Amino acid sequence: VPDLEIRSHRGLYAVRFGSAFAGLEKGLAPTEHLIIDAKVAELHAKALGPALAGASVLRVEATELNKSLERFPDHATHLLSRGLRRGHTLVAVGGGIIQDITAFLAATMLRGVPWVFHPTTLLAQADSCIGSKSSVNVGAWKNQLGTFTPPREIRVSLDALSTLDERDMRSGIGEMIKVHVIAGPEEVRALAADFPRLLADRAALERALRRSLEIKKRLIELDEFDEKERLVLNYGHSFGHAIESATDFAIPHGIAVTMGMELANALSVRRGLVARAELEAAATMIAANRAGFERVEVPEDRFLQALARDKKNAGTGEARLVLLRGPGKVFLERVALDDDFRSFCRGYFAGLRDAAGAGR
Ligand SMILES: NC(=O)c1ccc[n+]([C@@H]2O[C@H](COP(=O)([O-])OP(=O)(O)OC[C@H]3O[C@@H](n4cnc5c(N)ncnc54)[C@H](O)[C@@H]3O)[C@@H](O)[C@H]2O)c1
Repeated sequence: VPDLEIRSHRGLYAVRFGSAFAGLEKGLAPTEHLIIDAKVAELHAKALGPALAGASVLRVEATELNKSLERFPDHATHLLSRGLRRGHTLVAVGGGIIQDITAFLAATMLRGVPWVFHPTTLLAQADSCIGSKSSVNVGAWKNQLGTFTPPREIRVSLDALSTLDERDMRSGIGEMIKVHVIAGPEEVRALAADFPRLLADRAALERALRRSLEIKKRLIELDEFDEKERLVLNYGHSFGHAIESATDFAIPHGIAVTMGMELANALSVRRGLVARAELEAAATMIAANRAGFERVEVPEDRFLQALARDKKNAGTGEARLVLLRGPGKVFLERVALDDDFRSFCRGYFAGLRDAAGAGR
């Protein structure tokens, strides 16, 4: 029995919790092609030994460059040279980068082949593994090509996270905070109770992870194609993407989103949409999750330029941002990128620099 089933335009797909790399113990079937994060292949060489000895293994380093269009001729050539046929299956082992590469290949090669996913980062397990999206870079333009191509099945294992560093754990926690704030005050309270133990207590992490997937499931089933209900999952993301871009990805995705939520919350308070006190429980988790990353300098001009260039905002002089009237009360709002907005952002980053100074 699957732990969770997701309804999609391709039918139901299952999320199963279990031991690491379940189903790969005996190696690859002749119809399976492994696409694996090179670091994971090394760190988990023993458990993955039989699969890594298979006939079709593509090891990819998890870099943004490797999920850019320019690399796809190599990826596709590899699969064709290993005899990829219709009805064969791609098996992805890795985080969001391996997911994006595999999902895009699965969508396009031979007009579509099935894929299964063993997510190995917390971000991929708690968030990106469900929702069907693939996103591929074009040169320096991030995530500009993509499809909605869910895997046939997702095998989640907390054991696979044993080798993940704290920075990437906290990146995943950022997305977990996000969905809980979107869901409502009760969910925020539940996460806040587990939050101090997430890195040390497996049961607490698994609880929060399952709740995160359940919350996201509801939104993506309502709106798989990202036209309406699902858009609130962009909470923290326009700001977050601009932070990633302005820092040349020195800040991992989920931490940039954490800072993005802090900006969205502060802007909501400043506009009188919500009292600061209502966001306090979320604010405590957000501040703890970004702690230390204040030391990364975010050049404000690059940040503001990136925000204006965002694919949702380009050329309008406005940004479509997710703001909130409280946990569970999130909505999209057009915000003018004017002087007042710029001075608000400058104030936020000045505050971060002060926090970094005080923390030194
Ligand atoms: N398609 C989607 O829905 C979606 C959603 C969110 C993010 N993304 C994309 O995902 C990417 C970020 O993904 P991510 O944060 O999952 O990570 P990632 O794939 O970039 O991996 C992060 C780091 O962790 C390493 N790693 C992975 N698993 C490990 C393990 N078990 N032990 C030790 N190290 C491990 C990787 O080698 C890499 O160094 C971005 O490109 C982002 O655009 C896609």
